[in-house]
Amino acid sequence: MAHTKQKERKKDTAIATKLLSKAGSDTLSDFGQLRAIVQNCQGIPNLIGLHGGLPPDECYPITSISLQFQNTDPTPTPNNNINNQHAITIPLSQTLAAQKMVANVYGYPPLLQEIQSLMHSLHPSTSTSISTTTTPGSTYTLEILMRMFLDPGDAILTEEFTYSHAMEGLMINAVPCRTVIPVPMDHHGLIPQALEQCILEAKKKQGLKVKLLYIVPTGQNPTGTTLDWGRKREIYDVCVENDVIIIEDDPYIWLQFSSSSSSSTTTSSSSGGEVMGLEGLIDKSSCSNKSFLELDCMMMKMAKGNGNGKGGGRVVRLDSFSKLLGPGLRVGWASSTSLIIIEKLTIAIQNELIGVSAPAQVMVGAVLKSWGRQGLDAHLRSIQVVYGRKAKAIAAACEKELKGLAEWKVPSAGMFLWLDLKPSGIEDVGIGTTSGNADETSPSPSPSSSPSSSSSSSVLTLLQGKGVIVVPGKVFHPHGRREGFKCSFIRVSFAGPSEEQLEEGVVRLAAALKEYRQHQ
Ligand SMILES: Cc1ncc(COP(=O)(O)O)c(C=O)c1O
Repeated sequence: MAHTKQKERKKDTAIATKLLSKAGSDTLSDFGQLRAIVQNCQGIPNLIGLHGGLPPDECYPITSISLQFQNTDPTPTPNNNINNQHAITIPLSQTLAAQKMVANVYGYPPLLQEIQSLMHSLHPSTSTSISTTTTPGSTYTLEILMRMFLDPGDAILTEEFTYSHAMEGLMINAVPCRTVIPVPMDHHGLIPQALEQCILEAKKKQGLKVKLLYIVPTGQNPTGTTLDWGRKREIYDVCVENDVIIIEDDPYIWLQFSSSSSSSTTTSSSSGGEVMGLEGLIDKSSCSNKSFLELDCMMMKMAKGNGNGKGGGRVVRLDSFSKLLGPGLRVGWASSTSLIIIEKLTIAIQNELIGVSAPAQVMVGAVLKSWGRQGLDAHLRSIQVVYGRKAKAIAAACEKELKGLAEWKVPSAGMFLWLDLKPSGIEDVGIGTTSGNADETSPSPSPSSSPSSSSSSSVLTLLQGKGVIVVPGKVFHPHGRREGFKCSFIRVSFAGPSEEQLEEGVVRLAAALKEYRQHQ
């Protein structure tokens, strides 16, 4: 048994170390000298610690944290208000833990337990074969992963249009001299054949070492696409053949509000919409649509069985509480079949941030424990109803107002509608007055902010004149800033505004497009 584990570890180490950054791996070798000294002393009887820098217990001022809940269901009934029936009071020991640092570098143990139970339910094949660590959210974790893997001359593949913070802020600004290769997409997400083509071209024509694929499988930001199981398998196979590690970033897994198949666990919500809740997500991921991480676990098991060493150790999965509970918490988790990747990621988080926020981990752990599976299911159903209604409202408004002016596909998950404005004669939306990154996290603009006068004939300027902001598609493309790059897409987020505001926003968009057409 021990021998098999050692062999597995060797294989894991071989795949990961082959691809890890040369510069990065030196700095990611251990948890630091102080931690090593403490580790070495573990088990010594009657140990007196004269080494630390933490305040004594009696100096922590907060003795309890109390959390109250609002009912997130838009139409509460006696049966679905489980989450607002009670408040949670976090006891002294956990409140103290929240003010100290979390001793376990892989995360606050009660939260890790909740995460493991969630992973077990949502990705059943992963239960015995993955390592997990809590993270300060997926965005920063991505930056660490980039630094862990990429050296000059290395390349990372992304979907043609991708999460702007990942693409702009991290891959281009924070990791210069690395090549970002956009892989063509269609209405169903990244195209596997195009992926293969891109890898071959990068290797042969440009002499690049292609190490990573960054992909958002559900309700993709910005296009709203969701990959099906068939595509995931094809993409995975291409990555195995070409020795590429997949970074699966899945923050919108929770926000799946409609199911194309009528799953047995899909039930009618109190508000009349079809929602999956936790049970529906579990059902979906156990039969019709598994994660890349599960695929990796399955392949690893198969590879062990048939002696073909190609599967496993290929996927790092990023999960986040940002869209389930709140982005301000800055808590997520990373999982992989490769222990060494999770170890190095954990070391980087420890060395750079001294760990993930303790109060946030304690709070999230307490909420999940108190909710249990039933409470989480109720919360998910309520938020899925809200997102589903908003998606329906914006789809109906587009159908009414934008026919002949734009093209779109209604998403089944996430918060974004991706509109092609080509039918209005627009080849390039431009950047307009949107400066820098399309900030997912910025609050709504104040109504008094005045539109800029630059690029006067652009559709974005017309839209601003009518009091609407959308994000030009260019912002999400790795080549979007190149001179002469044209893009006819815009991203519309339907998460924040009310259904009435969404309808009014689309009416204004239609008016701007008509006005634009008249001036051509
Ligand atoms: C694809 C994608 N990944 C990650 C995030 C943010 O995750 P976190 O808050 O955990 O950094 C977002 C949010 O906008 C996103 O769209």
